[in-house]
Amino acid sequence: MAQLTVHAPGLDLPNPLMLASGLQGGSVSALERVAKSRCGGLVSKSIGPSPREIYPGPVCVEAMNGVILNAMGLPNPGVDAFSKMLANNEFAKPMLVSIFGPDSESFSNIAIKMEKSGATALELNLSCPHSKPGSTALIVGQQPNLIHEYVSAVKDVVNIPVYAKLTPNTASIAIEAGAALNAGADGISLINTVSALEIDPFAGRPIIGNLLCGMSGPTIRPIAQRKIAEVALAMRRGDIPVAPILGMGGITTGLDVARFIMLGATAVQIGSALIYDDIDVFETIEKELNDFMDVQGFRDLESMRGIALDSLEGLN
Ligand SMILES: Cc1cc2nc3c(=O)[nH]c(=O)nc-3n(C[C@H](O)[C@H](O)[C@H](O)COP(=O)(O)O)c2cc1C
Repeated sequence: MAQLTVHAPGLDLPNPLMLASGLQGGSVSALERVAKSRCGGLVSKSIGPSPREIYPGPVCVEAMNGVILNAMGLPNPGVDAFSKMLANNEFAKPMLVSIFGPDSESFSNIAIKMEKSGATALELNLSCPHSKPGSTALIVGQQPNLIHEYVSAVKDVVNIPVYAKLTPNTASIAIEAGAALNAGADGISLINTVSALEIDPFAGRPIIGNLLCGMSGPTIRPIAQRKIAEVALAMRRGDIPVAPILGMGGITTGLDVARFIMLGATAVQIGSALIYDDIDVFETIEKELNDFMDVQGFRDLESMRGIALDSLEGLN
């Protein structure tokens, strides 16, 4: 059996398969249930400054084979309720607490409360693609100066590791990754959902209640892979600081995980696959990854990490 352990800031994982933010991570019972699966680590639902209700439906649909569209509206219990929950519970797996807010001050206030309540690492959601047009939340992930400001604000006030979660909806993701890392981020998570819109031709209007939505699931995997490669190559070239990449977007099999690791990811996160197969996916994917590594002669993740980048060197 291959050695699957991962060591990254704040994350000592038995295997590289983490739960992605937004799927089953908003309550203690949901997180505990996922922690009991074969996942290697958890990411909570994104938690904001105050409780938020879900948007009017439909909020999440499979619009075509392999195409998940969602605009949930970041429903969450709010930082005060979630910090209480953190303070009173220990989870069986390492967890990134995902946070978001309307401005850098809000991010840092939430970060302080989470650290006090026992969070061991944070993921900053800088990348929600279905916020209202004109809102800062929609564009923060596309503005390197705002990314730098938000990450610095959080790094200034906490001592725990901070991962910046980036949007793929940008021309050159290495620039945004560089902004986050130069501001002190300990790692990069990517990708959040791809900006999307779908129309019901019979109703003559969008199918998602919020109108705008984000796309995830198997069809976005090649997009995610390209974004991860761009960031990993920029690290190799020395254009941006080297740091762990948590890769996600469309992973459903052990071979997909191998693809992400070969592009330089340290670990991966799995979201939409749980909509199809619930938490058993972790066991299936872990087994597939193990089988693949055994047959191909990879004894650990390190021996596989980044090998696909060799053939991409020289590309920008
Ligand atoms: C229903 C749903 C809710 C999500 N909620 C969040 C969220 O609260 N915070 C966040 O950072 N990402 C959220 N995401 C994005 C996922 O964490 C992930 O980045 C994206 O879906 C790509 O991975 P996947 O194709 O494996 O789902 C959500 C995705 C889905 C499908």
